[in-house]
Amino acid sequence: SGATAVASLQTQLTDALGDAIAAAYPAQRGADPLIRPSDHADRQANAALALAKKVGAKPREVAESVAGQIDVGDVVGQVEISGPGFLNLTLTDAALWRQVEARRSDDRLGVPASAAGVRTVIDYSGPNIAKEMHVGHLRSSVIGDALARILTFLGSDVVRQNHLGDWGTQFGMLIQYIDEHPELPWRHTEITATDADGENASTVSALDGLYKAARAVFDADPDFADRARARVVALQAGDEATLATWRDIVKESQYAFDEVYARLGVQLTEEDSAGESFYNDMLDGVADELEAAGIAVVSDGALVVLSEEVTGPDDEPVALMVRKRDGGYGYDTTDLATIRYRIRDLGADRILYLVDSRQALHFRLVFEAARRAGWLDPERVQALHVPFGSVLGADGKPFKTRSGGTVRLMNLLDDAVAAALTVVREGAGAKGTEVDDEALQLIAEQAGIGAVKYADLSGSRVKDYVFDVARMTAFNGNTGVYLQYAHTRMVSILRRATERGLRVPEQVPAAVETSLEPAERDLILTLDTFADVLAEVAVDLEPHRLAGYLYELSRAFTDFYESCPVLASEGTVRDRRLALVDLTRRTLATGLDLLGIAAPERM
Ligand code: ARG
Repeated sequence: SGATAVASLQTQLTDALGDAIAAAYPAQRGADPLIRPSDHADRQANAALALAKKVGAKPREVAESVAGQIDVGDVVGQVEISGPGFLNLTLTDAALWRQVEARRSDDRLGVPASAAGVRTVIDYSGPNIAKEMHVGHLRSSVIGDALARILTFLGSDVVRQNHLGDWGTQFGMLIQYIDEHPELPWRHTEITATDADGENASTVSALDGLYKAARAVFDADPDFADRARARVVALQAGDEATLATWRDIVKESQYAFDEVYARLGVQLTEEDSAGESFYNDMLDGVADELEAAGIAVVSDGALVVLSEEVTGPDDEPVALMVRKRDGGYGYDTTDLATIRYRIRDLGADRILYLVDSRQALHFRLVFEAARRAGWLDPERVQALHVPFGSVLGADGKPFKTRSGGTVRLMNLLDDAVAAALTVVREGAGAKGTEVDDEALQLIAEQAGIGAVKYADLSGSRVKDYVFDVARMTAFNGNTGVYLQYAHTRMVSILRRATERGLRVPEQVPAAVETSLEPAERDLILTLDTFADVLAEVAVDLEPHRLAGYLYELSRAFTDFYESCPVLASEGTVRDRRLALVDLTRRTLATGLDLLGIAAPERM
C-alpha cells in the first residue's frame, strides 16, 4: 500500500455543491457552499442565505435552484431543503464506504503530505543547565514535540533545536565553588537515587544546590567573590581547565534532561542541542553587522536596537540589548544569532519558537530587528513565537512547591503515575481481569505520562491550566486515559475476532445491500476528517485540535460500539464493522502517536 492522498468527503461535498452553485448562478462561481455538520442529515450546505442577497432572490428559491443542479447519485444521495434555505445533504452509502477503503488501504490513512518541501526549525524545551526543568519547560517540550511529530508526518523537513541556557556569568561562580569543594557529589554516578527528603535526586538538583551554596559564600566572603569573578573571566577567555568543568556540568545536566525526555517520550536528543554557547563565536559578527547597518546604536555605552514599533510605558522605544556596557552579550544577542543562523545556515522556511507567552515582547523585537537587518524576509520565511500559558497549582497561582521552589518534573510524573496506578488497578479489579504487577506498572506509566501530556495538549495553547492529577487520570471525560482505554477496546474486539478465526477483510465492496446504521455513518464521517484536522494544526499550531478530534473519534466509536454489535453480527455487516474497528484503531493510534502519547494494547 502506497501513499495516496484521499479527498475528504468535506472536500468532495464542497466541490459538488460548488459546481451546483456555478451551474445555477454562473456569476457566483467560487462561492463557498458552507458545508457544515447537521442535526438532520450527514451534512448541510448553508450558502443559500448568503447568496440570496447577492443574486436578489429569496433564500428558499436560491436553495431550490442550487438543489436542482446537484448531481444526485454518486456522492450526494439525497437533498432536502429545510428552514429558510438550508440544504440537508445525505451521502450515499457507497461514497461513505469508498472513503473507508481508500483510507484503510493507505499507510498514511490517506493524509496528504501537505507540508512537503517546507523546512521547519522548531525551538523547544530549552531548559537551563545546572537547574531543574520546570513546568514551563514541560509545556514547551510537550507542545513542541507534538508539533514536530505532526509536521514531520505531514512531510515537512523538521529540524529540532534545543536552546539550552548553557552560558552566562553564573557558571563562573559555580565552577569556582565546585573546584574548591571536590568532595561534594553532583555527577550522576556519584549522587544517590534519593535525597534527604526521600525525593528522587538528580544531577541538576545537586548542581542547583551547589549554585545556591556558592551564591551564599559569594555574598559573605569577598575573597571568594574575587576568585569567582576571576573564574568568569577565565571561562570567557576559554581557559582550558575552566572549560573542561563547564563541559562536564553541561554533559551531566543533559544527562538529567535526557532522563526526563525518555520518560516523557519527547524525541529530543543531544544532537538537537544548540544552546546559547553554540552561538558564542557568532555574536561579534551579529553585533557588528547590526551596527554597520545602523540598526544597532550606542546608547549609554551599550549597543542597542531601538524598536520602531513598540514603545514602553515611558513612551520611549523599547530596546534589545545587543552588547552591554562591559562588552558582554546576553539572551537578546543570542536570539538575534539564532534567527540569523536558522535562516542563513539551516535554510529554514518556517521557524517556531515554543516559549511561554511572557516572552512575547522579546520575540517581537528579535523578529523586528531581523527584518530590518534583512535576514528575515517575511515573504519567504515565517518566524513565529508560539506562546503558551502557565501551569497553575490548585490555588490558581503559578505551580510551585509548598516552600515556593520549582516543582521537579520527575516528581510530578511520579505523582501522575501513582494516581494512574490506582485507577488502572481499580479498573482491572472491576472487570475481574488478572493482570500481573509488572504489567500493571507499565500500563500505569503509559497512562500517567499520557494523562499529563494530554492535559497539557488538550486545552487551547495560550490558556493557563490547573495541574490536577486526579482529574487528569480519570477514566471518564476528556482525558488521555479515556482515549487510551478506547484504544484498548478496539484492540480487544480485534483480538477476540482473531480468537474466533475471523479476520479483518482486505476490502469490503462499496456496493452494499444493507444500509449503514446512523452510528456507522457518524463514525465514518468522523474518521474522514482526520487529514483536515491535521492540516489545520499545521497552520494554527494548535495541537488541541487534534486532541479534541481524537476525543470525538473515541466518542463516535463508543456510540458505534453500543449500537452496532461487531462479533455478534454476520456476513457483510460484520465485515464492514471489523473494517471500521480496524480503521478507527489505526487512526486513534496514529493520532495519539502524533501527540506523543502511548496507545496501550490493554489497560
Ligand atoms: N532557556 C530559556 C528559558 O528557560 C528558554 C529558551 C527559549 N528559546 C529561545 N530561543 N530563546 O526561559
